[in-house]
Amino acid sequence: MSETVLPDNPPDLDDLLSPEAIDRPFQYYRRLRETRSVYWNKRWNGWIVTGYPEVVEGFRNHTKLSSDRFSGPFGEDLSEASSQYQQLFRLLSQIFVWKDPPYHTRMRKLVNKAFTPRSVEVLRPRIQELVSSLIEPMRGQREVDFFARFAFTLPVVVIAEYLGVPAEARESVRKWSEDLGAVIFVRGNDTDRMRKGEQAMHDLAEFLKPVIAERRRDPREDLISGMLQAADGGDAFTDDEVVANAILMVFAGHETTMNLLANGMVAFDQFPDQWARLRADPTLARSAADEVLRFDGPIRAQARWAKEPLELAGQRIEAGDRVLLVQHAANRDPAGFTDPERLDIARRPNKHTAFGQGIHTCLGAPLARLEAEEAFRGLSQAFPRYTIHEQELRYAPTVVSRSLTQLHVTFHES
Ligand code: HEM
Repeated sequence: MSETVLPDNPPDLDDLLSPEAIDRPFQYYRRLRETRSVYWNKRWNGWIVTGYPEVVEGFRNHTKLSSDRFSGPFGEDLSEASSQYQQLFRLLSQIFVWKDPPYHTRMRKLVNKAFTPRSVEVLRPRIQELVSSLIEPMRGQREVDFFARFAFTLPVVVIAEYLGVPAEARESVRKWSEDLGAVIFVRGNDTDRMRKGEQAMHDLAEFLKPVIAERRRDPREDLISGMLQAADGGDAFTDDEVVANAILMVFAGHETTMNLLANGMVAFDQFPDQWARLRADPTLARSAADEVLRFDGPIRAQARWAKEPLELAGQRIEAGDRVLLVQHAANRDPAGFTDPERLDIARRPNKHTAFGQGIHTCLGAPLARLEAEEAFRGLSQAFPRYTIHEQELRYAPTVVSRSLTQLHVTFHES
């Protein structure tokens, strides 16, 4: 299941949605990195950053590189849509991952009070129980749809329970998450995405409002109650901000983790010795999760734009320029990792960029790591081997996420 070799002259290095870039990104981005680690892409009309040191520097330089999607060049792209789809944009514009300080600092500080590593670690026994309950029915099956039977269900149930929303709503959550993903991940083939995104945002907000009202009256041990109680001096979240944050968690906590689990199965299929190694030593599950994040993480790249001119790898980036920080390329750069094309589940150090870096570093990283650790441990202990049935692996045509369209697997118990 390894990547097919690229032709000597790929059709267009500037086409970020070509089959090469989407289905065989590691070769494509290697070629780009070897051409120029900070490369001007005429079609995207911005800089594509593919070297490890440059991607890390880009993530850390939040004073010059903005995450704000609602001003600068990204704001201009969205200005027509934002007047047409007002509810979608009113809530999207409160989601702090797409904002700069001081708004970002205030929101993150408050969310941090509720979303603590301790509040995540207490979920471990429940996650182990869920993993076992998903594995049991896959035993003895000829072929299972890995997304439907495992990769989708685990993260969606975990995030629903952690937030404190009814897990029965998971099919709706999947649909909303998919439709919002089409807006956020700029799916190349979906022209109706803004309309669907607005509907999804509306439905998700309507679903969350009564849950929030109930938790205000009767707080529980969940994240929505935690956010409602979080205070910093006299500052606290408004209901609208709690809705925006809950939407961010549902979205960020579901699709990414689901894709991590599926990408992991593909990575271990390429390196069966590492599956056997994990089975023999399950204490490696934690570092195995990080190695899958490095090797084929669920996020390909993150966008920024320059608020002020800056230099990166000798290239002058002008104020107003777009910049794409390609984590997939950085994570396979020999400047950052020894033998980067190899999956090594005990790799140390492993300072990958899958969760970003700097002030926006993924807040949910402890939860994503915990889920992946327990999932890979559980699956490798239950099944010494598995077979992937896809003739060719196909990925959704987006610049930002690395998301398989389907994955059918037969698990073998001997
Ligand atoms: C494997 C799974 C995941 C990956 C690869 C991932 C990746 C990322 C990345 C790259 C960022 C930084 C975005 C940027 O710099 O612009 C981020 C931010 C964030 N992630 Fe995750 N994430 C994952 C799972 C989760 C989960 C499970 C949650 C919560 C339940 C979560 C919540 C967040 C939040 C709230 C932010 C915004 C942080 C900020 O802007 O300060 N993520 N994530």
